[in-house]
Amino acid sequence: MKKKVNVVFYSRTGITRRVAEKIFSWLSKKMEVGITEIKPKVNYPYFVWLFLSFLPKVGVKVDCEPIDGNLVVLCFPKWTINCPPITRFLQRNDLSEKKLIIVISYGGFGEKQYGYNYRKEIEKKCKEVKGVFLIKRSNILKEKEEFEHLIQEIAKLVENELEKTGGYPPPS
Ligand SMILES: Cc1cc2nc3c(=O)[nH]c(=O)nc-3n(C[C@H](O)[C@H](O)[C@H](O)COP(=O)(O)O)c2cc1C
Repeated sequence: MKKKVNVVFYSRTGITRRVAEKIFSWLSKKMEVGITEIKPKVNYPYFVWLFLSFLPKVGVKVDCEPIDGNLVVLCFPKWTINCPPITRFLQRNDLSEKKLIIVISYGGFGEKQYGYNYRKEIEKKCKEVKGVFLIKRSNILKEKEEFEHLIQEIAKLVENELEKTGGYPPPS
């Protein structure tokens, strides 16, 4: 069955993976959903990633399964001004028919501007951005209430969106 929702994520140290997997498990209780990892072809050391994260619009080669759904929850970390695996994903995929929800995990600073900038960039490439959610690493690691609430908010947004467009197939 064609999936209507895809959770797509990039995670270097596993924090964003936790977020993506939690969203996936919430959604899978109610609907058919897929989860897809964006994997850089080369796993550079931290200092190379840090250097690249200062360069605007630079991507790196990635492996990623095709995205078949028309609603995508895209999860990635806050990296200085640029997360190259995500930038490449955005450059290489046709998102023109898709609506996106952006979910960003961050350490502790600069997340609002980063979220705003990626939103603007993604808006140019997709049908619509339905929301941007920012989640602090410490809240994720400590499984804080805020984290739980945010996941529920994201799940609700997905459900509302799919209901507007004629419901969703249940999990098989
Ligand atoms: C290259 C690099 C740059 C980063 N820049 C920032 C930053 O500017 N602000 C911030 O709050 N966190 C920054 N972080 C921390 C990550 O956003 C944070 O640890 C995130 O939750 C990691 O997610 P991951 O485990 O899925 O890779 C940076 C991490 C890396 C590796």
